[in-house]
Amino acid sequence: MSFRIRKAVFPVAGLGTRFLPATKTVPKEMLPVVDKPLIQYAVDEAIEAGCDTLVFVTNRYKHSVADYFDKAYELEQKLEKAGKTELLAVIREVLPRHVRAVFVTQAEALGLGHAVLCARPVIGDEPFAVLLPDDLIWNGRSGSGGPGALKQMAELAERENASVIAVQDVPREQTGSYGIVETIDFSGRHGAIAAIVEKPRPEVAPSTLGVVGRYVLSGRIFDILEKTRPGAGGEIQLTDGIAALLKEERALAYRFEGRRFDCGSRIGLVEATIQFALDHDDLADAARAYMRDALSR
Ligand code: UTP
Repeated sequence: MSFRIRKAVFPVAGLGTRFLPATKTVPKEMLPVVDKPLIQYAVDEAIEAGCDTLVFVTNRYKHSVADYFDKAYELEQKLEKAGKTELLAVIREVLPRHVRAVFVTQAEALGLGHAVLCARPVIGDEPFAVLLPDDLIWNGRSGSGGPGALKQMAELAERENASVIAVQDVPREQTGSYGIVETIDFSGRHGAIAAIVEKPRPEVAPSTLGVVGRYVLSGRIFDILEKTRPGAGGEIQLTDGIAALLKEERALAYRFEGRRFDCGSRIGLVEATIQFALDHDDLADAARAYMRDALSR
């Protein structure tokens, strides 16, 4: 079986409680970093990695995600009439023509593993990617930076014919906030995963390599998730599914090149906003001047 990925799953049916009250009406994935919602950064990364079918796992409160990727006829007509061709291109590029978006519903937030399972009818049994949009991964300025994290992972998965899971080093006192992997033969940026556990306490964590929201997974995971019982937090955990997958297939942990912003937390969103403001030619000077001024007060 080839590990070439064409399809990507975006589980966006979580409750986003850490951003209340904003997330009462605005899904967390629609929160902007400068001028793009978080979901757009993840979508761009998936397309760069070669995906042409994007599966959004949403719930009944998240219509705005589907609206965002829909064609905005009236707006396009107005911009066209006004001769605003640059802005017109910006909204048309939200989803390139060769890419299709499919929406599936997760009726109840039963956990990330369950959300991924909801995408099964669209994915079938081929390898696929999972991207959690609240993990925003930056690999240098857009245009002049290196490849996105998922592209790096897709190349490794194809080369090694194996599932690949993104990891980063985390402080030991924070292992309880991550899936943690134990690896063997780690060399360069990757190693085979020997074990994976969800949110272990620091004293029992097998390492400090924390899982980040990017995965290239074998289609075999679906049969396994069907049978996975609720784990940590009473949720059907993707981590538990991957732990079971390891008994049948090889999976690699990959320490990606780039910096991850945890935009599921308020400080992560603030940090990402600062970083991306510094990346915009038309904002960088003003952002820098403001920060200098604010810090000197
Ligand atoms: P989080 O653990 O960040 O949960 O989910 P959350 O509900 O989005 O946010 P908080 O913690 O309440 O602030 C990780 C990812 O899994 C998705 C979320 O949308 C997010 O992308 N998810 C989680 C689902 O799609 N369905 C679920 O049942 C649970």
